[in-house]
Amino acid sequence: MKTSLLTLAAALTGQTAAQAAMMRFQCSQLVIERLDPLVNPGALQSPHLHQIVGGNSFNASMPPVQYDPSVESTCTTCSFSEDFSNYWTANIYFRAKNGSFKRVPQMVNLGLRGSGGVTVYYIPPYDGKTKVTAFKPGFRMLVGDPNVRSQRGTPRQVCHRCEHNIQQNPFGGAPCTGDDTAAFPNRICPGGIRTTITFPTCWDGKNVDSPDHKSHVAYPSSGTFESTGPCPASHPVRLPQLMYEVMWDTRPFNDPAIWPEKGQPLVYSMGDGTGYGQHGDYVFGWKGDSLQRALDARCTGDRCTQLKTQPAEQAVACLKEQTVKEETEGWLDQLPGGMPVTYK
Ligand SMILES: *[C@@H]1O[C@H](CO)[C@@H](O)[C@H](O)[C@H]1NC(C)=O
Ligand SMILES: *[C@@H]1O[C@H](CO)[C@@H](O)[C@H](O)[C@H]1NC(C)=O
Repeated sequence: MKTSLLTLAAALTGQTAAQAAMMRFQCSQLVIERLDPLVNPGALQSPHLHQIVGGNSFNASMPPVQYDPSVESTCTTCSFSEDFSNYWTANIYFRAKNGSFKRVPQMVNLGLRGSGGVTVYYIPPYDGKTKVTAFKPGFRMLVGDPNVRSQRGTPRQVCHRCEHNIQQNPFGGAPCTGDDTAAFPNRICPGGIRTTITFPTCWDGKNVDSPDHKSHVAYPSSGTFESTGPCPASHPVRLPQLMYEVMWDTRPFNDPAIWPEKGQPLVYSMGDGTGYGQHGDYVFGWKGDSLQRALDARCTGDRCTQLKTQPAEQAVACLKEQTVKEETEGWLDQLPGGMPVTYK
């Protein structure tokens, strides 16, 4: 059964289908490696592992403006072929009873084609009128905190959904509502786990970055998941809402016999055994004014007359070698980088 995009979008946002214009597209896996040009610029390697999608100019060092992914890249893993941005998150590992780790693979979301990676959304305000300003060249931001191990430190817009089945049915409403949890689900999820990472939508209008990669942006001063609630005076410029969904295929690890007697067996690559440290990173890299044109036209889904697209076969062929070779697959004695697992 194919879920229509508008039904999906409407279920996602709780809005009527007519209002729910949003770009939703596949960016397949580019590379899995220990680099973080935002938090550890120039460092070979960063402390913990990431999965990265988007333009193949992803590099340890990507100084704002001067290093333009839309110029430096020769391909992208995203279905919109003018999008050379990089989107990245931590990885999830399964920890066996004997202490070995195995990476939990990702799967492609409903209605999309590709390999692993991330579903990327750019969502305009639901009122159907309010204009948004596309990110400027050099723009980057970070949401969530890899060091956090408690609910208090997790933004409301970052969560996990335990899927009943692979069809994601029942759909479960807007992200981070209902049964969604900031922590890892504490039970077996037959359809895998969907994580949602939603970025702030208000910008200070001046800085493409800030020392913590967060304070140049803010969530609206009111409203839940997203709303047309006003932006704070300090951050008056309304951005499109950037959102990632990552579909983690936990099915190979769903046998109760291999689960621990207490708690749950998943850990994030930074050694987070709670799930509260989930985070996402973004470096803007759309070509020219393509993103602004798409937003102005209220492009919906992964096809739009304003934008160029590429077939999934071409997107998945865009791959990058690990900068520093490191084993991330199979059974590992420790997490990449030797990150110890912590619960607080
Ligand atoms: C990529 O990052 C490395 C490490 O910081 C740096 O030496 C190299 O010049 C960068 N590559 C490009 C194309 O900027
Ligand atoms: C640890 O447990 C896993 C899962 O049961 C198994 O596949 C793996 O071979 C074990 N590793 C060691 C070193 O015993």
